Amino acid sequence: MKEIINVELKTRKVDFTEYKIDALTVGFFSDVKGLDKLNALLNSKLDGAVERLIKLGDFKAKEGTNAVIYGNSRIGANRVLLVGLGEKKKATLDTVRKAAANAAKKSVEMKVASLGLALHKAFGGRFDLPAMGRAMVEGTFFGSYRYDEFITESENGRPEQLKVEVIDPDAEKAKKLDEGVASGIIIGRAQSYARTLANRPGNVVNPARLAAIAKELATGMKNLSCTIFDEKQLAAKGMGGILAVGSGSQNKPRFIVLKYSPASPAARGRPTVALVGKAITFDSGGISIKPAADMDEMKLDKTGGIAVMVTIKAAAELRLPLNIFALIPSAENLPSGSSYRPGDIITTFSGKTVEVLNTDAEGRMILCDAFAYAVKQKCDIIIDIATLTGACRVALGRYMAGLMGNDQMLIKQLQKAAEDSGEKVWPMPSGDEYAQEMKSKIADLKNTGSKFGGACTAAAFLRQFVGDAKWAHLDIAGVDIFDKATEFAAEGSSGFGVRLLTTYLMSLAG
Ligand code: BES
Ligand code: ZN
Ligand code: MN
Repeated sequence: MKEIINVELKTRKVDFTEYKIDALTVGFFSDVKGLDKLNALLNSKLDGAVERLIKLGDFKAKEGTNAVIYGNSRIGANRVLLVGLGEKKKATLDTVRKAAANAAKKSVEMKVASLGLALHKAFGGRFDLPAMGRAMVEGTFFGSYRYDEFITESENGRPEQLKVEVIDPDAEKAKKLDEGVASGIIIGRAQSYARTLANRPGNVVNPARLAAIAKELATGMKNLSCTIFDEKQLAAKGMGGILAVGSGSQNKPRFIVLKYSPASPAARGRPTVALVGKAITFDSGGISIKPAADMDEMKLDKTGGIAVMVTIKAAAELRLPLNIFALIPSAENLPSGSSYRPGDIITTFSGKTVEVLNTDAEGRMILCDAFAYAVKQKCDIIIDIATLTGACRVALGRYMAGLMGNDQMLIKQLQKAAEDSGEKVWPMPSGDEYAQEMKSKIADLKNTGSKFGGACTAAAFLRQFVGDAKWAHLDIAGVDIFDKATEFAAEGSSGFGVRLLTTYLMSLAG
């Protein structure tokens, strides 16, 4: 996978004073008085500059802030980058990740060539070293990411390469950190690639192109296979939902199936997981067309599909002892003379019929076919991730994904994975009351409910297609994008779900 900024990572045992690096990164809590051992050492080498900076009030160590002190002849580093960690009592593993993201973002802005990370030092033994190593690396990928593949005349360039090292003077500790660094590279890189794919517009990525990318991901990976169903095969199989949504575009729909089946005997006793991701490469709404304002954002309507695609690849690279499917129904939702219409009744792959009341409620139409496929493959667990409803964004804002499901245990496991990965979720209902609204008078179901509770009725629709599987649904309509750059991330796709899903799979793998 190609990343825009080449983050080259390794863990090293170093002496902090001698350490030659462009920027040495250390963390500070806002509510801790006095300096910890490492920061006291740096302060003395820097003739008290750290203390002065804090005393003058120029650096308050709030989360999302940083300060730079330039080196001198008594220290190997050209810069010491102080990063705020916020209040110590509120610190989580995501504090480590965000601090690294903040440092990496700042480094890219300053065109730093090499970055040394010693953020774990401020946390003492609070989290284990592999977990902190992984969080630092994930954060580094996250913060250094920029989408600039179509910029030909850049005023503010970026460094060709950002070399990153996670460092500790103790060989034992460096080794422990390195365990996490290894998985952090796989996950961080996967997420950056997801952001690039998601950021690519509809004229660059269509269903066939996405299918080609999925094929490429599986190439050369043993245990990972990729099967593509084109529109003829979709028709032969009876995948009426995907076909209906794709019918308005010249760019024909695809159903992408990635399958990871490791040789490991440990995989045998474990449940088979289907990760299902919505991949609408552009959602105009179709005949029920959307208003013009912000319609361009609907190029990100493939975020869920891309997330599961890179997640299964990451799972394969991590050699997780689990059988996993990534199921990606992909279509372009456009209005034309061949589009599906409001009022149409569609027979879906499951055999259930759906009355279309709004062609803009297309996500559920394609997901239900993928669910029926997962059921036919006897998957035990189905987790779908989709930019499904504007209503979810209204309910939860830009901070967390909606989480629905039919199994409390699975929901709890995903909540735990959300905490650890920093990709937040919030539970929402999708039970009988909502399902009632989705019944049609002339078909089994209709594809919209009343004007209230749109995220819940959408999930209640999906629930009808999971058979006996344990199921969870992530509505990521609010969290797929940063409308503007933050202290931790560039504008554009967030790549939401890659860390959450890999973290979940890693915990399931034990
Ligand atoms: N892709 C949209 C949901 C969306 C909206 C994602 C805003 C990100 C930001 C989805 O296909 C959609 O259009 N949903 C409709 C459903 C409605 C017609 C029942 C919506 O939310 O308005
Ligand atoms: Zn959509
Ligand atoms: Mn839509």
